[in-house]
Amino acid sequence: MSSSATAAVSEAETAAAQKNYQIVQDSGNFDETQAKRPDFDHSKPIEVTKSPNPNWDYGQGVPGASLAGNHHEIDPYASDRPMINNYRLLVSGIAPRPVGFLSTVNAQGEKNLSPFSYFQVIDHDPPMFIVGFSSRPSRVKDTYRNLRETGECVINTVSENMIEAVNATSIDAPYGVSEWDVSGLHEAPSTTVKPSRVAESVFNIEGKVIDIKEFTDHQQPGMSLAATVLIKATRFWVKEGTANEDYSHIDLEKLRPVGQLGGISYGRIGSTFEQPRKRWSDEVGKSEILAKLDAAKPVDK
Ligand SMILES: Cc1cc2nc3c(=O)[nH]c(=O)nc-3n(C[C@H](O)[C@H](O)[C@H](O)COP(=O)(O)O)c2cc1C
Repeated sequence: MSSSATAAVSEAETAAAQKNYQIVQDSGNFDETQAKRPDFDHSKPIEVTKSPNPNWDYGQGVPGASLAGNHHEIDPYASDRPMINNYRLLVSGIAPRPVGFLSTVNAQGEKNLSPFSYFQVIDHDPPMFIVGFSSRPSRVKDTYRNLRETGECVINTVSENMIEAVNATSIDAPYGVSEWDVSGLHEAPSTTVKPSRVAESVFNIEGKVIDIKEFTDHQQPGMSLAATVLIKATRFWVKEGTANEDYSHIDLEKLRPVGQLGGISYGRIGSTFEQPRKRWSDEVGKSEILAKLDAAKPVDK
């Protein structure tokens, strides 16, 4: 970690920030709550249904949706708005989020494994990914530190049956403690980067850091910097038996992805539907609205 990551953060500020840091909350007696819930059905198949409004036509908006009720305006930077409210609002409102499970090593080769849901694939040509590392009191996230030191990672997918082990890796283990040991997940060798792949994952993506953008304008002093990292894939690995013959499509029944929701909730996919993408040239003759819009379109110079 370069000194810039912790520069200008005093111990007193860090201590104060630590007091206010509520991202990882005490979940009370969660075991008791969980005991009252039905068991997870591992054998539940994914059902395919019709889409929500199969007779939808151009210009119809959202059939049956009400526009009654106002939206409440929020300034995320308002002095009386605690940062934790923005965190809770964002993770509950931008959901589900895929979980990118990152394997990294530091310059000494010490291993790290942690989940991140400020994560997304953002292009396929070239294959690109983005990961967001939040600020916290004291040091930057170890994964970020490793990415900055070595520029390499493996992004691993998270299937339903992996979630307890994956969640265990998010513990605030001291720097240098390997979450591989904490979780009991298994390593598989990579070819283009040093960090190992997670053998239990259906899909692993070896990748190299292309760009980093750091942010320090936090609401509360004493926080580490936050960072967004752009990663370009260097190799794909797909578990045999989970994809089609040419490895161009992973079977959802095999992937069984989890999505992170608000609070400590996760979602699984129990049902899907399809929506074919349309071409203007095919559709314009079938719809009065599209025909009118087409006739009124500005002339392309
Ligand atoms: C499912 C899940 C998703 C998470 N997503 C993020 C994220 O997007 N960004 C982040 O900074 N922390 C995220 N966290 C918290 C980190 O995993 C946690 O801070 C972890 O200790 C970081 O590990 P590291 O310091 O070894 O990199 C997430 C935790 C879980 C369980």
